[in-house]
Amino acid sequence: MKKKAAAPAKKKKAASTRAKKKQAAVSKGKAFKLSDQARREAMLRRVSWRTRAEGKLTFPAVPGLVDHYVDVLSTMFKALGRPFAKGGVEGCRAILAEKIDWAFSRSHNAWIEVEWKSSSYPPMSVSYTVTGWQKSIEDAYAEWVKVREPPLFGKNPDAVVVELAKTLGPPGEVTVLDAGAGTGRNALPLARAGYVVDALELAPALVAQTEKAALETQTDLRSVCGSYYDRALKLPRERYRMVVLAELCSHWRGQKDLRNVLERLSELVEPGGVGVFNMFLALDGYRPTDAEREFSQIGWCPLYTRADLAQACAGLPLKLVDDVSGAEYEKAHGPQGDWPPTGWFERWASGSEVFDLPPGQSQFEMRWLTFKRT
Ligand SMILES: C[S@@+](CC[C@H](N)C(=O)[O-])C[C@H]1O[C@@H](n2cnc3c(N)ncnc32)[C@H](O)[C@@H]1O
Repeated sequence: MKKKAAAPAKKKKAASTRAKKKQAAVSKGKAFKLSDQARREAMLRRVSWRTRAEGKLTFPAVPGLVDHYVDVLSTMFKALGRPFAKGGVEGCRAILAEKIDWAFSRSHNAWIEVEWKSSSYPPMSVSYTVTGWQKSIEDAYAEWVKVREPPLFGKNPDAVVVELAKTLGPPGEVTVLDAGAGTGRNALPLARAGYVVDALELAPALVAQTEKAALETQTDLRSVCGSYYDRALKLPRERYRMVVLAELCSHWRGQKDLRNVLERLSELVEPGGVGVFNMFLALDGYRPTDAEREFSQIGWCPLYTRADLAQACAGLPLKLVDDVSGAEYEKAHGPQGDWPPTGWFERWASGSEVFDLPPGQSQFEMRWLTFKRT
């Protein structure tokens, strides 16, 4: 015969009677009856209480990844036996979001640091502080000069630039502006080949390197420290037959910068002249998310779509005349035996700074674009 299930009130009463009996046994000097497992869990709760932990986590300041960062912290604190209290997840998210937005809006060299420590009050909790950091382009390169082995951007000029220059006339008649010239990787060899070259560079630490190299090799080149976007900046010439923006794209921030780059190009290139630059473009069929676009800026390979480019060019006197894969072109046309130009170049040019994917699964790539000024 099936037994009838006890009513909840009856069940409760029976449990309380059992507990009272066990308690009575304890007061008579007998241990409260517990399984090995229950005792171990109770002890480990006290072990967690006595465990001291602290650390620092640094996250790239990507607004679209704030939920992921909160998950990482949640999981970590839980593993230490100190999960977020009620409302803790939401509070953490709000603090992280504020610091990330602050840093990301100021620079693409941006990160947040979460410093955390187990606290004894409230018991079994973690206290943490979040700080946003950002670094200007000039400061980032000042550090490169101190800590990295030269040549910072490779030792050879870009094959695209060299080949294009040859099509523009006798070198002595071709004026060139190398904007974002870095250490003069393109500007110096072009000047040595007889082109009339001005090198414009934002970071004083890099301007100093180009000027030193020009002096040591007696290369005729004018160097200007300032920003390509600054219309008030006095350049040696008003217009050039060729304007080169090699890897300047590392520092672009969204659609506004892209439009600015192209507007400035149409102002600085003489009619009939060319502007040549590289940029990161999504491959057919890939539509980047906001988080992917933001992370690509942090990775110095800001991602754009063909539609972004078309929109940025709208109404400008510029015509796209060449469009080639950056890595493929340079590998095929650059000096043999010197590939890749730097340890990071292939990863960077193939979009692998953003997606850790095997070769052949790229979602975007660096391309060289040549625009004719109409
Ligand atoms: C990745 S480096 C490439 C340097 C060089 N063009 C080369 O390819 O070897 C990008 C350069 O652009 C410079 N830059 C960034 N923003 C700039 C701006 N607004 N005006 C001028 N230079 C800029 C940086 O300081 C840096 O030297």
